[in-house]
Amino acid sequence: MINFSLNLKTRIHFGRGAVSNLKSELQPYKKILLVTGSGSVKKYGIYDAVMTELSSADKEVFEISGVKPNPSIDSVYAGIKICKEKNIDFILALGGGSVIDAAKAIAAGVVYDGDVWDLYLDGSKLIDALKTGAILTIAATGSESNGNSVITNEKTTEKLPLRNNILRPEFAILDPSYTFTLPPIQTAAGVSDIMAHVFEQYFSPTKDAFLADRLCEATLKTCIKYGPILMKEPENYEARAEIMWASNIALNGILTCGKITDWATHMIDHELSAYYDLNHGIGLAILFPNWMNQVADESRLWKFKDFAINVWDLPVSMSDRELADASIQKTREYFNGLNLPSKLSEVGIDDKYFEIMAENIIRRKTNGNFKILDKEDVVEIYRLSL
Ligand code: NZQ
Ligand code: ZN
Repeated sequence: MINFSLNLKTRIHFGRGAVSNLKSELQPYKKILLVTGSGSVKKYGIYDAVMTELSSADKEVFEISGVKPNPSIDSVYAGIKICKEKNIDFILALGGGSVIDAAKAIAAGVVYDGDVWDLYLDGSKLIDALKTGAILTIAATGSESNGNSVITNEKTTEKLPLRNNILRPEFAILDPSYTFTLPPIQTAAGVSDIMAHVFEQYFSPTKDAFLADRLCEATLKTCIKYGPILMKEPENYEARAEIMWASNIALNGILTCGKITDWATHMIDHELSAYYDLNHGIGLAILFPNWMNQVADESRLWKFKDFAINVWDLPVSMSDRELADASIQKTREYFNGLNLPSKLSEVGIDDKYFEIMAENIIRRKTNGNFKILDKEDVVEIYRLSL
């Protein structure tokens, strides 16, 4: 196990009616900026429930809505402007990873003396941020209690992450019933993203991280059990609760403890999102089995053996090669069962930018650790995904 530091500062309020904790959480603040997406929270009544709490808390509330999936730096600039004009002292995100990531970017940008995009190009420039809180409406990213923010700059065709514990929200409100209204494809994309987060941490060159690996396997098994239930029963509270908790565990930092992580597939997907505005979880479901095929050579079969036996319950009597191939096949079949696309061509993507996107990944040194990919590997993963 390698050394680690862990900061889990976000207070979590989990369960039906958890929004009742909002008033006490906001007690220290006066002027709140509420950040929302393209309207789902208003359509399905979540916004009204939150506004009721906010009005009883007697806060001055300003709003910015319309943050879109793969949030744009332009919505961040708009939020920073309001914060400066109105002297906002707290930012409350109500939505999914896109809304929460935009809220974090606004929080960082308000106190940064320069263009907030600088922080995404060079994370060491982030030294402070306004405080944030998150009310989650889709189980996927874990952004509600981690220090990450991923923002798209359409002008430069870049989608880049910023990672810093300063960005961890003060609190997260996780009410599984808020996710009942998700369209099936968003539920499935969320499950794919959760599993992808675990894969990025599970498939590691660190061989002696027993506990972290077993926690990863339990999180994957939770997704494998409850994802298909949600496809049939979107209002199954227990299934929504298990998936929501899995999404938090998958990327709150705990699964990373003691090991080196990979993250190449996320970066391969972020390139696709930057060029094509592709949904994050859909991209990952297409890419991940192909990344697995590309890296599952003799020297890495040991990990796929664990994956096959402990996650997919495949028989120990199979050879290591058979176990690896069968576990990758099971992963693809699982995503197919959630009705997720399995090819880039299904989502309108061709090979036009494969070389450029691969070069970007190598140049930024975001080419993984389980196997350190070269440019040809990345292009091959794109090609296998076509
Ligand atoms: O915009 P609205 O109207 O809210 O609709 C959203 C959006 O269309 C809809 N939705 C959300 N909650 C709903 C709902 N529809 C009905 N009922 C509800 N309760 O779902 C759509 C997707 O929302 P989005 O916030 O984009 O989803 P997600 O949470 O998957 O976030 C994806 C973004 O997060 C980034 C991704 O790259 C992507 O930009 N990530 C952030 C990470 C982090 N901060 O740690 C890590 C991830 O790996 C990821 O990169
Ligand atoms: Zn992700």
